[in-house]
Amino acid sequence: MSSPREPLHVTGEVLVVKKVGAYRHLTLAAPGIAERYRPGTFVAVSIGDLTPRTHLARRSLWITGVRPTGSHGPTIELVVEPGGVGSTWLADRRQGDRVELTGPLGRPFALPKQPVACLLVGEGYAAGLLFPLAERLRARSCTVTMLLGAQDEPHLLGALDARRAARAVTVVTADGSVGRRGTLADALPAVMDGVDVVYGAGTHVGLHAVAATAEQFGAWSQVAVEVPQPCGTGLCQGCALPVVGEDGVPRLVRACTDGPVIRGDRVRWAELTGTESGPA
Ligand SMILES: Cc1cc2nc3c(=O)[nH]c(=O)nc-3n(C[C@H](O)[C@H](O)[C@H](O)COP(=O)(O)OP(=O)(O)OC[C@H]3O[C@@H](n4cnc5c(N)ncnc54)[C@H](O)[C@@H]3O)c2cc1C
Ligand code: FES
Repeated sequence: MSSPREPLHVTGEVLVVKKVGAYRHLTLAAPGIAERYRPGTFVAVSIGDLTPRTHLARRSLWITGVRPTGSHGPTIELVVEPGGVGSTWLADRRQGDRVELTGPLGRPFALPKQPVACLLVGEGYAAGLLFPLAERLRARSCTVTMLLGAQDEPHLLGALDARRAARAVTVVTADGSVGRRGTLADALPAVMDGVDVVYGAGTHVGLHAVAATAEQFGAWSQVAVEVPQPCGTGLCQGCALPVVGEDGVPRLVRACTDGPVIRGDRVRWAELTGTESGPA
């Protein structure tokens, strides 16, 4: 029998597909994965039809919600931004389609032991993974505030849900189509007052801003970093994430198993974002 923490490989069934802005929201019956889920984990989805077997590769996707019970048993939710071959194939799935998944994978967010003030910062589709985290933080009597960012309105995820999930919500878009015009880096200092821990999910540039601002305000940060992941399970070594170890020595770790959630002050952001200076 597999341990309750071990990832599973299952054939999931697509139950619901919804188009929301620039994204497709998929609800899948995925036995065993919902029960093992912890916020910050992801699934690796095999791309291509099962018969004949034409898998191209796997794509990693954040688990953005779980329901432990329901008429189809436990379900998970994914948010897909169609772009390249794999994400477009996934976004084209219909009710009743079967999809092979492995998960939950990766190191989740660490939850505070004390009730502390938490700021959740999400960008684009990655904001989705913060909602189940907000629920668990509130269950621990933590105060939750949110900052959501995106390039424009269609790419802004969860602005309405955030009003229910958080005590205060700030929204920024690059084109100003909703919320304030600007970037996460612009908006962060104004929402840091009294914050103990910052949780971030988004682009490397956005997460760099999260880590740098948290450090500046004396807060802890944990960020969910996306690095291309050929296997997602720790086998191929193809997902190098440059960090500084606990011993102060720079090294590369595997984003899929040593991350994707990692302390913001441990990431060597200049190497990840290709910049030498801090965020603008
Ligand atoms: C931990 C993690 C969670 C993710 N969660 C989501 C999610 O919830 N929703 C979503 O739409 N996408 C997510 N992604 C990105 C997703 O896995 C795909 O990489 C991305 O959708 C591009 O794949 P594609 O088939 O469209 O593009 P293609 O051009 O066909 O991809 C080519 C290759 O590049 C890699 N790649 C390209 N862009 C990225 C990227 N930004 N991050 C990582 N790898 C990339 C792909 O994995 C693939 O191997 C996540 C990535 C990681 C690592
Ligand atoms: S993706 Fe293969 S080791 Fe991380």
